[in-house]
Amino acid sequence: MNTAFESLVKTASDLQALTKARPRLAIALGTGQSHALDSLVEHTHRVSYQELYAGAAPQALSHRGELTLGTINGCSVAVFSGRLHLYEGHSALAICQNVIFAKLLGCNEFLFTNAAGALNQAYTPGDVMILSDHLNLTGENPLIAAPAAMAEHFRIEHPFVDMSQPYDSLTSDFFNSHASELSITTHNGVYAGLKGPSLETSAERRMLATLGADAVGMSTVNEVIMSRYLGLTTTAFCAITNMATGGPDQQEDSIEQILEYADEAGAKIAQLIEGFCAKRAKP
Ligand code: HPA
Repeated sequence: MNTAFESLVKTASDLQALTKARPRLAIALGTGQSHALDSLVEHTHRVSYQELYAGAAPQALSHRGELTLGTINGCSVAVFSGRLHLYEGHSALAICQNVIFAKLLGCNEFLFTNAAGALNQAYTPGDVMILSDHLNLTGENPLIAAPAAMAEHFRIEHPFVDMSQPYDSLTSDFFNSHASELSITTHNGVYAGLKGPSLETSAERRMLATLGADAVGMSTVNEVIMSRYLGLTTTAFCAITNMATGGPDQQEDSIEQILEYADEAGAKIAQLIEGFCAKRAKP
């Protein structure tokens, strides 16, 4: 990956030279999230992941595989629509390519979004959860294979990154209070990240709730490790798409329902991000 990293450095500097974009805020859009947020981005320059990374493009449903550079409410952003997943057979390092690229573009802050099932009985599909913490249950860690050239480039001395508080509490506070101004209900909870792609059994879901998780999904945790390793201020949202409590009333999961609720929660997350960008753009 040393040579792959060097070619990423060149791609980022070519793109900066071409677009003159200097984004500070990166946003990763997960399942069903692209639709609402896309319409907010102005002065756009779009480039496909295939062009950027000359490699794998996301295959997952509703993951487009495109970077948009532009502005939201005057704030310069890099919006990554779609991500690679471990369940597509990619390594933990490969699925972090957007995070590494955002850092190379000069971003200092990353907002992640994903779709997740609710382990917490108090949640409802269509709700938004802000991550207060996570359980990385993927059995993977992207820093095991982090290239030496990358550590050198960013002057990172060791891989033992502090994860005692990976999610920025001040940013979460902003989102909670902005949500209440907009009459959007937010939960703050723990996300369990699994490899997938099969959904969990009911026994697994009850176990995850016992472990202290409020929502479950198949992404984000490895990217957040990389984001913290690279020193990015990190925040993440779940679009709650289905009840996954594993209790006696557990329904069969349907992908159509998951996509529908990802859209509903995605519209709320887009509104919250729009307000956040307005705040960030203020001098
Ligand atoms: N489990 C895992 N991933 C998910 C779920 C779920 O119930 N819903 C949406 N993504």
